[in-house]
Amino acid sequence: MAIRTRVWVVGRSGRLGSALVSTMDSKVYEILATDVSDVDITNLEEVEKYADSRRPDIIVNCAAKSDRLWCEENPEQAYALHAVGARNLAIAAERIKAHLFYLSSDFVFDGASDKPYTEFDQTNPQTIYGKTKLAGEMFTKNHCQHHTILRSSWMYGKKLINSIIREAKEKGQVSVYKTIVGSPTSSLELAETIIRFFGETEYGTFHISCEGESSQRDFVREVLATLDIEAELVESDGHGYFEVLRPRYSVLDNFMLRITKQEPMRDWKSALHRFMEERNIRG
Ligand SMILES: NC(=O)c1ccc[n+]([C@@H]2O[C@H](COP(=O)([O-])OP(=O)(O)OC[C@H]3O[C@@H](n4cnc5c(N)ncnc54)[C@H](OP(=O)(O)O)[C@@H]3O)[C@@H](O)[C@H]2O)c1
Repeated sequence: MAIRTRVWVVGRSGRLGSALVSTMDSKVYEILATDVSDVDITNLEEVEKYADSRRPDIIVNCAAKSDRLWCEENPEQAYALHAVGARNLAIAAERIKAHLFYLSSDFVFDGASDKPYTEFDQTNPQTIYGKTKLAGEMFTKNHCQHHTILRSSWMYGKKLINSIIREAKEKGQVSVYKTIVGSPTSSLELAETIIRFFGETEYGTFHISCEGESSQRDFVREVLATLDIEAELVESDGHGYFEVLRPRYSVLDNFMLRITKQEPMRDWKSALHRFMEERNIRG
């Protein structure tokens, strides 16, 4: 049997971590997958001990708390996880010469632009979540030579799509935020794109979001139209706490993917249709 590449997925049961684990071919990859109960990444000793004993070739840091309100209310814990946790994994990865992937976010931008952000645009996070993710990027870069930072946006999995469908069916209406525009990206597209990076020496920062842009309203409308479900979309005025915590405009331009001539991401609509088909989502 050929030697398989050993990949450590950190944040196994999260949206992305679970999509990665289910998408990786176990004939090609030996998968090590952990969560906080196995290895708490805020604890350097635990991280080093695990990395030293298992010696993965690749580490994918998907550990996070994506709940923006929680981050605003618990800044110390948010920095401990997104920044110090990233640092700990970077120190451990450097020691064993692993290729480290750090998942980051459109929240590192302020959302004031009216055109898609490239990897070369100025970051200016406005939230604790965004600030801590940017700090995690910095630690990853500073402490691990072989790193790739992958920024994505508006990631959805089965849970989100099912909750839209449920709301539409139970209430006959779905509430949407009208002011925010982004690039909806399925966890499946994201997982497949990350796996394409494995074994490559594509270091640096890459945006990996589905192509095109959408308002939240258009995204919800597309989900419902795909299943022929009729529901009223009720827009909020755009000044709620949740929206304030989101960049108004956070479309990512996959510029680095393009100029390094890698396979492009699918456009968001066809990625959504594929996701719903493959995940067997029915009305
Ligand atoms: N969601 C999005 O729209 C989006 C968009 C762009 C980028 N990203 C980035 O993509 C990555 C994955 O996001 P996701 O949505 O899959 O996150 P998620 O669903 O919240 O999952 C995060 C995972 O990390 C685990 N975790 C939390 N604290 C930990 C610790 N101290 N040590 C080890 N593991 C810990 C969580 O475990 P518990 O469940 O037990 O807490 C969970 O399994 C994150 O870096 C996120 O910033 C997400």
